[in-house]
Amino acid sequence: MSPIPRRLLSDSATVGHDGWLEVGGVSIEALAEDYGTPLFVYDEAHLRARCREAVAAFGPERVIYATKAFLCRAMARLAYDEGLLLDVASGGELHVAMSAGVPATACTLHGNNKSGDELRQAVEAEVRYIVVDSFDELDRLDVLAAAGVGPAPRVVLRITPGVHAHTHEFITTGQDDSKFGFNLANGDALRAVDHARRSSAMELVGLHCHIGSNVFEASSFAKAAEVMADFAVPLDLPELILGGGLGVAYVESEEAPTISQWGSVLLDACDALGVRSRVSVEPGRAIVASSAMTVYTVGTIKEIPGVRTYVSVDGGMSDNPRPVLYGSGYESFLPRSVDAERDMTVRLVGKHCESGDVLAFAAQVPSDLAVGDLLAMPVTGAYGHSMGSNYNKITRPPVVFVADGQARLVVRRETYDDLLATDLG
Ligand code: LLP
Repeated sequence: MSPIPRRLLSDSATVGHDGWLEVGGVSIEALAEDYGTPLFVYDEAHLRARCREAVAAFGPERVIYATKAFLCRAMARLAYDEGLLLDVASGGELHVAMSAGVPATACTLHGNNKSGDELRQAVEAEVRYIVVDSFDELDRLDVLAAAGVGPAPRVVLRITPGVHAHTHEFITTGQDDSKFGFNLANGDALRAVDHARRSSAMELVGLHCHIGSNVFEASSFAKAAEVMADFAVPLDLPELILGGGLGVAYVESEEAPTISQWGSVLLDACDALGVRSRVSVEPGRAIVASSAMTVYTVGTIKEIPGVRTYVSVDGGMSDNPRPVLYGSGYESFLPRSVDAERDMTVRLVGKHCESGDVLAFAAQVPSDLAVGDLLAMPVTGAYGHSMGSNYNKITRPPVVFVADGQARLVVRRETYDDLLATDLG
């Protein structure tokens, strides 16, 4: 099979004189030496370029970065500096964003089961909007206001538009059978609008929907816009948030719309449908996924004649659970020989104590791959670090941002002591 397609590598990726891959002007070999492996390497210029593309496509204060895709303080600050607002899906995400210096007024709070404490935290911090997901939450806001917690928050109602997005079943959210939002078809959405309008505990400013994640069909978004417009236009509220969900290409055979194309499809659809509200979106993956790669070290190679070859690296499902959870595909290559033919098929596995710990079921790698090689997996910037775990008490990898020949460690590697930080003995 062919070399790793350059389009799957981040914008600043080049091959240096010594043949090694460089990102942001820094050699992957040097990064691995300085920070060890596994290591998340984020191309900062690439991240900024995606943020700018989104702001250019939708307008200022209309792009709300979904922090669940990847969040640390450096990322929160970068997104905010580039003119994005932040979507936080828990009190914890709000806390990290605010500790990065992002004002709560730039954060919208999501969640299908926000606790009373999370709601109080959001109201007191004066977040931009609370995206209300259920009747219980409307009641909870009424109770908070009655207890004197204020000021009355501005709220957006999450609507389930009944649109089925073409993606993995676990990450579709817009269909009727969903734990999220107020159902449009059965009248819940209208009842929620009535409740919010009547309540003095909140100010209703808009509607929201999110049909699912890693969606490749621009037509799914246009369909959701159509259904939402039908409901939203007569209500004439100032805000319409059409969610995130734009897919990205993880493997050679995939092709996704660009952020600019997504913007044109959505905004043209909204114009044609007579939407007068401000239209915002909440991309996560499309901002961060392709900006990063994970660098591992190959530890063992086990060839079982007539069966398959297993290549084990020093990470696995604790830094990237997506292959196991969703059957997601990833490519891999050797940063020492970026343009080498990848003529050997192996099963790329991690170091966890279970057979399900697979990073790539049929990875194409160069046949001279050897123990001790660095192996890189591109497009791991979204839902890898953020869904990481300490399974088997493996310490989580560090995150480094690279740009202009400089590397900046933004999340350090966990230590064994970190593993005991919450353990009271
Ligand atoms: N807005 C809402 C309300 C969401 O629930 C999500 C994702 C987003 C925006 C951002 O979606 P994105 O643009 O990143 O597709 N762990 C899964 C993805 C779960 C997404 C959950 N919600 C994965 O690794 O594919």
